[in-house]
Amino acid sequence: GVVHPFFGAHQAGIATPVQDHLHFAAFDVAQDATREDLISLLKDWSYAAARMTQGLDVSATGAVGGAPDAPPDDTGEALGLPASALTITFGFGPELFEKDGVDRFGIAARRPESLQALPRFVGDALEPGSSGGELCIQACADDPQVAVHAIRNLSRIAFGRAQIRWSKLGFGRTSKTTSAQLTPRNLFGFKDGTANILAEDPTAMDEHVWTDGPAWLAGGSYLVVRNIRQKIEPWDRQQLSEQDRIIGRSKGEGAPLSGGSEFTEPDFAQTDETGKPAIDMHSHVRLAHPDFNHGIRLLRRGYNFVDGNDPLGSLNAGLFFLSYQRDPQRFVTIQRALRSDLLNEYIEHTGSAVFAIPPGARQGSYVGAGLFA
Ligand code: HEM
Repeated sequence: GVVHPFFGAHQAGIATPVQDHLHFAAFDVAQDATREDLISLLKDWSYAAARMTQGLDVSATGAVGGAPDAPPDDTGEALGLPASALTITFGFGPELFEKDGVDRFGIAARRPESLQALPRFVGDALEPGSSGGELCIQACADDPQVAVHAIRNLSRIAFGRAQIRWSKLGFGRTSKTTSAQLTPRNLFGFKDGTANILAEDPTAMDEHVWTDGPAWLAGGSYLVVRNIRQKIEPWDRQQLSEQDRIIGRSKGEGAPLSGGSEFTEPDFAQTDETGKPAIDMHSHVRLAHPDFNHGIRLLRRGYNFVDGNDPLGSLNAGLFFLSYQRDPQRFVTIQRALRSDLLNEYIEHTGSAVFAIPPGARQGSYVGAGLFA
């Protein structure tokens, strides 16, 4: 199977070809944890993550190699499974740096100005149970069991030092990050990821994704997380031409409504015989397009989810939106532009979080080491 190295200039799981499955968890550090506890946690997490991403148990004794009268180091459900392209990406939320005015870990002065809770947006219906977090772990893999095993064992390692605030399972990718990948579809049935930033475009990665300051964060990025419920049933009653108009692309091909095929650039100036724009002024694709947003592009890396149903039988389904960008303000600009998006009638943002994503760890070091140097 595919193995992505844990150590490197950038953390894996950003430019990495987006895998099929996700388990994401946001953590809070224990109230009485010290700076040393936090550092030891990041070291232990890095050690275990470097092993698991190679398809190994969390430790050398692992699931079945330890003493029979002790609980095993590794929980065992990934025994015999390959690495499955697992990536484990760590992030730091604003409250890790300072919470209620208290600088618990001596890092308040190192919080980048850009790292603060996102503003409230029109239509937000945020639930505290799926928002925020002091630390985050994004585990992506081609096998869901491997992604779940990673989060489960990392939260077990954190016991007494940090605990999960909320978590999310994603079952299908809604983006592509290399040209070799086919464009997947989101739960509205549309191709998603057509105009995404591709990892093989280093100029775009440098311009839009990797951040260069402060020094401890150089080569890292910022992750914005939005839990977006999709109102599946009303959408499914909407006629095809209307669905197309809302997105600004055709459902079948994913082509812009101004014509061509999937990868033809949209022509927003084009009009039909009555003078109406071919791509609606309030379509999702027009409002989100870089031409109308100071050239801003985001690297989208989201996943579909279905979490059971409500009492009326409607699916609790949606898009777990993940985007990487060099500054979270860029997401804010796009999200504000989407204020009048035709799509808004069919979606609801119920969770929100933002994290600084440190650069990759050097071999022999740990993720985020620069923050404590
Ligand atoms: C493009 C769906 C939420 C930003 C697209 C496309 C679809 C889509 C079908 C066209 C294909 C593509 O280029 O990927 C959705 C759905 C959403 C959602 C169903 C919610 C459930 C968001 C959010 C943002 C966003 C919250 C950011 C604030 C973008 C951007 C593009 C895009 C930047 C590319 C525009 C371009 O350059 O042409 N989305 N999207 N989307 N979306 Fe979304």
